[in-house]
Amino acid sequence: MRQNLVAGNWKMNLTYQEGLALVEEIVRLNQANGAGPEVVLCPPFPFLTGVGQALPQGGKLHLGAQNCHQKESGAFTGEVSAKMLASVGCEYVILGHSERRQYFGEDDELLSQKLKAALAAGLKPIFCVGESLDTREADETFDFIGQQLAAGLFHLSNEEFAQVTVAYEPIWAIGTGRTATSAQAQEVHAFIREQIARAYDAQAALDTTILYGGSANAQNARELFSQPDVDGGLIGGASLKAADFTTIIQSF
Ligand code: 13P
Repeated sequence: MRQNLVAGNWKMNLTYQEGLALVEEIVRLNQANGAGPEVVLCPPFPFLTGVGQALPQGGKLHLGAQNCHQKESGAFTGEVSAKMLASVGCEYVILGHSERRQYFGEDDELLSQKLKAALAAGLKPIFCVGESLDTREADETFDFIGQQLAAGLFHLSNEEFAQVTVAYEPIWAIGTGRTATSAQAQEVHAFIREQIARAYDAQAALDTTILYGGSANAQNARELFSQPDVDGGLIGGASLKAADFTTIIQSF
């Protein structure tokens, strides 16, 4: 179901102790978030159990991971399966982040397998798409995003797709301080919703949560979230500061 949602992607930052201090502060600051958005914290793998234990049961704060392997188990040294993530209390997993695509060569085929693995383990994927600056300047943003959706995501059945949150993260805005304007974000979000309606149906499009990510912060979140097709944010840098992250959570 479509819902307001803010996810914090900690990426490869913090020590375990710093991570625990951060989550405790986030919990403290968000005790009154009764009517607010769903919140997902996505710390590095070794922190998951501890961060999960710090989250109040049954509330609006949820645990997510930043990646998972495509196989259920086996001889894949150093990898983590979706089933393992579910077993430590993860409800969500980020897939298709541009950093995974760029630095780890994750392509549509691999991401399709990861999506299936995540769904089979009962996880809700947060599936990222987004264009590079070159693609935007060549005026090919819509073609590119349409292709990422068609090749990576739209192979899912209606039931599977209903579990997915989409995140639009323009690569040129990630970690650069250069946020998409709210109009740029809205335009692409509306396009994504349109593509979902074509691939599935109008109701599926209306029901899908679509997040914006890329230099979203405490100052610009309200303007971004005020757009009709922007249902929340996938936050990197600003999710590492409890006060900023809380301001973002309160920006609806
Ligand atoms: P920043 O918010 O640091 O730009 O990162 C966005 C992001 O990649 C979240 O997944």
